[in-house]
Amino acid sequence: MSDFQLTRTLDEHTAETALRADVARGLTRTPKALPPKWFYDARGSELFEEITRLPEYYPTRAEREILLERAQEIASASGARTLVELGSGSSEKTRHLIEAMPALDTYIPVDVSESALAGAARTLLEEHPGLRVHALLADFTRALRLPASPGPRLVVFLGGTIGNLLPPERAVFLASVRAMLSPGDTLLIGTDLVKDEAVLVAAYDDAQGVTAEFNQNVLAVINRELGADFHTADFAHVAVWNREQEWIEMRLRARSDLLVKIRALDLVVPFTAGEEILTEVSAKFRQEGVRKELASAGLELVQWWTDAAGRFALSLSVAGGAER
Ligand code: SAH
Ligand code: AVI
Repeated sequence: MSDFQLTRTLDEHTAETALRADVARGLTRTPKALPPKWFYDARGSELFEEITRLPEYYPTRAEREILLERAQEIASASGARTLVELGSGSSEKTRHLIEAMPALDTYIPVDVSESALAGAARTLLEEHPGLRVHALLADFTRALRLPASPGPRLVVFLGGTIGNLLPPERAVFLASVRAMLSPGDTLLIGTDLVKDEAVLVAAYDDAQGVTAEFNQNVLAVINRELGADFHTADFAHVAVWNREQEWIEMRLRARSDLLVKIRALDLVVPFTAGEEILTEVSAKFRQEGVRKELASAGLELVQWWTDAAGRFALSLSVAGGAER
């Protein structure tokens, strides 16, 4: 029998209440905006996996290159018996770390996508029948109650997902991760790096239109969960590089004047032609910025690795004194 447990800290009611609040707030403000976590229903998680295989979307390949090269070093630096992964998705790259950690006792993937958690656990338990997998269906931006497991712990946050949080959200998030760490625990974070605008924009506006479909999927989620009548084809996918903020913005742009009904909110949302919904920012980083953000949260950067082309970085940090 496999050792798998799933704890739902997000029941359907809580998730729907949060979605209602985010949609009500986000679509009645100017400019309109929606939090990116709502992309990830089962279809959105599938589309993200497709994105990771696109020729233009380099971050997954770059991060895998670093993990393959550094897995042993990370494993011995952490000495971890528990691996906690925030926003674990398919856990595809994490397998390289797990393979380098023969003493690993427990893997705790944390994600809002139940289909992603279930699929990842199935594959991992086939490959590592002795591993305990205790999945948490949870929002990593909220207080997490981790199941009891042996230390030390290695907490990982891969893919560059930290860049999908706005700077103030990142500060709160990093402080809460810092609070999760006991002496001897380590933190591994993947960050995409600032680079040529054309490379960045292509990664978020691929030729096959998979990212466009991923972006539009948030409207399909709102239709299904809140009885809205968005026609996804009425909204164009837009990806732009914000040079000042050093982040990519994904937006959905209304192709014409529209009225969208959202039955569960008893709301009609007007759009003028060209009006946009900001659906995601994806921040790109520099080493000094990462070091500073970590330090402000009481974390000390101890290792910084990039892929050979310098596109993406993995940083290893430990709890240190807070810098204020
Ligand atoms: N770590 C994987 C997946 C990245 S995609 C990789 O590197 O390929 C981002 C993942 O984070 C998705 O699986 C999504 O469901 C999850 N996610 C996004 N926002 C979240 C949140 N607020 N709380 C928990 N999981 C979240
Ligand atoms: C999950 N996250 C790091 C991805 C990113 O690159 O910001 C989500 C994504 N959005 C568009 N393509 C991929």
